[in-house]
This record gives sequence, structure tokens and C-alpha cells, in this order.
Amino acid sequence: MKRPPSPYPFWYRKIPEIYTNGNYSFTFGQTPSQVHIEEQIPSLETILKESNTSSAAAVLLVCDTHTEYITKKISRNRPTCVLESGETQKNWGSVERIITEAREVGLGRDGLFIGIGGGVITDLTSFAASVYMRGAGLCLVSTTLLGMTDAAVGGKTGFDLLGIKNLVGTFSPASHIYMSLEVLKTLPSREWKSGMAELIKTAVLDSAETLDLVKSKKMPFLDGALAREPGLHMKELIERAVLVKGRMVETDPRETGTERALLNLGHSFGHALESAAGLGTLSHGEAVAWGMIRACELGQALGITPPARAREITKIIAAYGYETAAPHSLLKDIRTFIKALEGDKKKKAGKLSFVVPDAERAVLVSADIIGLRLLEQIINGDLQQ
Ligand code: GLY
Repeated sequence: MKRPPSPYPFWYRKIPEIYTNGNYSFTFGQTPSQVHIEEQIPSLETILKESNTSSAAAVLLVCDTHTEYITKKISRNRPTCVLESGETQKNWGSVERIITEAREVGLGRDGLFIGIGGGVITDLTSFAASVYMRGAGLCLVSTTLLGMTDAAVGGKTGFDLLGIKNLVGTFSPASHIYMSLEVLKTLPSREWKSGMAELIKTAVLDSAETLDLVKSKKMPFLDGALAREPGLHMKELIERAVLVKGRMVETDPRETGTERALLNLGHSFGHALESAAGLGTLSHGEAVAWGMIRACELGQALGITPPARAREITKIIAAYGYETAAPHSLLKDIRTFIKALEGDKKKKAGKLSFVVPDAERAVLVSADIIGLRLLEQIINGDLQQ
């Protein structure tokens, strides 16, 4: 496979297939990580071969009740840990179950965890693999749009604790991440909506051209064509999301600089809304979409987001059918929201920071320059136009 040029030029984004044949190689920190975007679900033989795992080594497949049918297509006779589905399962209890089953099947450091599912399953499996015997092999089969465009790429692992999303976690990339477009055909509409929000975010961080590509998918999204023919409509967008995120994470794998932090556009407000509404009530993407609009309002109030740019982003988010108004209908108490915002782990030197769009991309601003009064006005909808 020819390695794509880096930094990748504008024209390359249009024809990545020529260079990559659906395979994308990244190095996150010291760790190589390959993304495979294909039509079909990979076979166990392929996963073992590509990850250099002996077929005699112990393997544990991890999935939830929604992705068990995909897991059975990969292997019927290898040990499988099936968890209940949903954000509420993203807890220490699930990690303990995965680790217990790994121990029971005799998985050693030469063994392989294979997480098959959306962000909850891939984050949980990745965390378990990263701490099991100080680190075992890991491959992921991402089965949701949100996972393909965000969660599965870049090595963030973790679970929720004390009501805070991903409070506990590690940076530990999977060696191989498989994205099979055929599984998107059975993705529920709530999941499509969740993933589209991350695609809109990626486009805001990338270019006007990618934003136009996202806009062009609105009708196929609304009339269900994306879901009927994901291979036709979604491949290019998913490729771009993988490339954009992959390059950003390569630049700043552990979020010590500002580059990776930009991927949190919409997430400070979004995570606080998810927590305040009760984890699992709103989908991640719905909360992020709402959060991006609040970030635009904040950026405008600070003189960073040009009004036309804020209007364009807001218009796209509204066109996809997300709840855009503040206060959000599920937000009963603004104090809970502010508390969740303050508990957000996206802090630098103990200080909260926000990502706001600028004229071309986005920038990170410290909460030092943002008064509590301004945040309250934004959350209450006082700044809405
Ligand atoms: N979801 C943001 C990141 O991976 O950094």
C-alpha cells in the first residue's frame, strides 16, 4: 500500500482510493494504527492475519446485544462477551466482565481483544485491552456512523464514572480498525443522526469543500437513501472524516497541544447537556449538534466566529433536524448543567476551555475570558437570533 502524502494536499482528499485502496495508515504516538474502509464485514482470518495474531492464540470478541449478529458473522466458535447495549453500560462493571471473560478464556499478552460495535463497545474493549496484563492486542470493528467518524479512530478509551462521561480512560490505539459500510444499512435512525453531527463537526474543522459535501447529503439523509445505500453515499464522507481526524490525532496524539482538542468542538456544551439530561437520554451527536450552536454563539459574543459562519453552521445543523434552541427541552435545571460543565475533563492547567469556530476552522479559548453570566445567557437562549 502506498502511504498517502502528509500533510495531504487538497487534491488528494478527492481521490484517496487511488492511493489507499480503502486502507489508511496512521501513527498515533509510537503506535501504528490502520483503518480499513470496506463494503463487507472482515472475516476472523483476515483480522488475525492483519494483526499478526497466531490462529492458535486466545481471542475474545466483545459486542453488545445489537451487534451480536455481526459478531456471529465474524466467528461462531470463538469466545464472545455480549454486553447489554447503551451508554448506561459504559461503566466499570462492563470492564470487569470483559476482563473476567478474557481471564477465563486464558487470553495472554499474545492474545487479541476484538471489539465489535459502536463507541460504547469500542471504548470499553479498548480500555480493557489497554490495562489487561499491562496491554494486550486490540482490533476494532466499528459498526456505527459515530464510531467510524470519531470514536473508533485515535486511541481514546474509557468509561463513565460519577455521572461524568469518559472520566476514566487511557490513550491506546487499536492496531486495526475495520469499517464495513454494509452494517450501516441496519443502523437505527437515531444512530444516523448521532453520527451525522460528528460529520458536520469534522467538516467545520476541515474545509468549505467538505462542508459542501455534508450539505449535499441532507436530502439523501432525510429521505433514507443514505441508510439504503451507504456504500454509494457515505464512503467518501467517512474517508474524509477518518483522514481529517487521523491527521489531527497524529499531530497531537495525547491532546497535549491544541490540535486534538479542536475535535471537541460542540463537546463541552454537548457533554454537559448529556450529563444534565441524564446519560443515555440524548444521543451523543444530538448533544454535540446543540453544543456546536452554543459554541457559535459563544464565538460570536467573543468576536471570534464571524456572524455569517455562525449562521451557516446553525443552518446546516437545523436542516438535519437537530434541536437547536436554547434552553434545550431536556434541560430542567441550569445549575446542574453548569456543574457538569465545570466537571468537564477538557481542562488545561485546571482551567476549562471551549472550542469555537473562527473564519476558517476553530480555535481553543480559555474560560478565563468567559464570564459565568455569558455562559448562562447562552444556555438560557438569551443570545439566540
Ligand atoms: N472525540 C475526540 C477525540 O478523539 O479526541
